[in-house]
Amino acid sequence: MSEFVTLGRSGLKVHPIGLGANKISDADASTNTEYGGDILLDAIDKGLNFIDTAFIYGDGKSESIIGNTLKKNNLRQDVVIATKGAHEYVDGELTLNNSPEFLTKQVENSLQRLQTDYIDLYYIHFPDEHTPKAEAIGALSRLKEQGKIRSIGVSNFSFDQIKEANVHQDIDVVQDEYNLLNQEAESKVFQYYQEHNISFIPYFPFASGLLAGKYDQHTQLTARQKSRPQFQDPTYSDILGKVDQIRPLAEKYQTGLQNIVLAYYLSKNVVDAVIPGARNRKQMEQNLEAAKIQLTEDECKFIASVFPPSFKLK
Ligand SMILES: NC(=O)c1ccc[n+]([C@@H]2O[C@H](COP(=O)([O-])OP(=O)(O)OC[C@H]3O[C@@H](n4cnc5c(N)ncnc54)[C@H](OP(=O)(O)O)[C@@H]3O)[C@@H](O)[C@H]2O)c1
Repeated sequence: MSEFVTLGRSGLKVHPIGLGANKISDADASTNTEYGGDILLDAIDKGLNFIDTAFIYGDGKSESIIGNTLKKNNLRQDVVIATKGAHEYVDGELTLNNSPEFLTKQVENSLQRLQTDYIDLYYIHFPDEHTPKAEAIGALSRLKEQGKIRSIGVSNFSFDQIKEANVHQDIDVVQDEYNLLNQEAESKVFQYYQEHNISFIPYFPFASGLLAGKYDQHTQLTARQKSRPQFQDPTYSDILGKVDQIRPLAEKYQTGLQNIVLAYYLSKNVVDAVIPGARNRKQMEQNLEAAKIQLTEDECKFIASVFPPSFKLK
């Protein structure tokens, strides 16, 4: 599975393991978070070519790190960049804006930060409450005609909003939360994606690292973690028990549990690529191995039986 795949009908060819770049502006030795430019260079060296960023990741810092790193190393042509916009600061308050004027300005700003003439995939990051979806997508279609973006995506849209946005079949990719603890997208919209040749990219694939296999009953949780429902019993013990049931697959494939989870998502027809967030080069390198794993049909069925679609983190 390690060859490149095409994202929906966009024509973009990407490595199925992308780099989720929301943490790359947070370099901090105390949390073992490395400088994002180093992770990016290492990732490209190892064959990764798909980078997922957004204006709101560090208020432009993630995009700037990516732009600087690619420019300095003359690597723009080697990567596929996806970025997103919709967030606007108004009098210091964060709001959402999908107006054609705002999205057009946001694309220009992202182009500057990324130091490039084109963005491969531009998503509306979140829907706003007032702009008709067809108008917002119309603005992106014009930017596509001008060659400033190459394909169009939406993120965090409801099913009704996706259908409204796709009325002229302009949507190439949808990005939404999907993981073994929240499979709502699968039951609701996967069939629509299939019928409309839309690629689905799941975000939050490890659910705060819970599905990355590093937690057990002995793990010392931080106060912040303990305040979150997924780290509270009985939910926490339930999740750990389920994760333990699929650990033997990681042993069979001699890999980390997180790669079994990624390979499972990639076994879905509409999921062409995944974008795990990596805090450092080690995590990124480990996650790249998922592209080599081809789970059997029975193994996929087994994982689905351990994490039935009805299991949803409250
Ligand atoms: N469209 C949207 O609205 C939206 C929203 C959220 C995210 N995203 C995108 O999705 C990407 C991924 O989301 P995410 O970072 O929030 O969640 P995630 O991928 O589910 O989790 C990332 C975390 O998993 C852990 N991890 C990753 N690789 C690991 C490995 N090999 N071994 C052990 N642990 C590992 C790390 O946890 P530790 O930090 O504990 O080490 C890492 O910070 C983001 O970078 C972003 O590009 C999009």
